[in-house]
Amino acid sequence: MDNSTEQYRCFIAIDIPGTVKSNLMDIQKKLKSWPAKVKWVAEQNFHLTLKFLGDVSVRKIPDMVKLLEMIGQSHKRWEISLSGIGAFPHSRNPRVVWVGIDDPRGNLLRLRDNIEAECMKVGFARETKGFSPHLTLGRVKETAATPGFGEIMNLVPGFNYRVPVREFKLMRSVLTSAGPEYSCINSFFLQEH
Ligand code: 2AM
Repeated sequence: MDNSTEQYRCFIAIDIPGTVKSNLMDIQKKLKSWPAKVKWVAEQNFHLTLKFLGDVSVRKIPDMVKLLEMIGQSHKRWEISLSGIGAFPHSRNPRVVWVGIDDPRGNLLRLRDNIEAECMKVGFARETKGFSPHLTLGRVKETAATPGFGEIMNLVPGFNYRVPVREFKLMRSVLTSAGPEYSCINSFFLQEH
């Protein structure tokens, strides 16, 4: 069978260590006391999205891998930290519940902008929404008026989890009735020094 038209739903992301994923599960547990309908992200699926690519022809993936390798080699390793809970578009109208990212030197933005620019050169659509670095904990399907999300947020004590960024990944997402299944197509290491 000719599968040259096969497409993978793809995105580019930074993965986080298992210990931090487990800390995020503790936070999720506290937030779950909110009586709203929320699709909570599964522990193994936590990630920080750099670029959502959508459907990519399987034939184009080797070129994407080369492109992303080149980008990886032009950025140095660094560290971000995860701190604070919030919601998009606003805690009074929560649709996406997230953990914030601290990146005081702007390294994340530079990496993301570089990926965005190179992806545009090879034909991917420009992201029209501004980049708000975050890690999604859950997607709200139906809110609960009382207590409001603002009150629930206060149940989570302050935290700061450091995450070394040594690589980013090209990911495949398969949508199933049980939720998305992510797999890593390739990892791209950043410069050591
Ligand atoms: P998120 O980072 O806010 O959770 C894989 O689907 C990832 O790509 C998700 O984590 C998701 O958002 C991000 N993403 C961005 N735009 C998307 C879109 N149009 N459809 C699906 N996912 C998208």
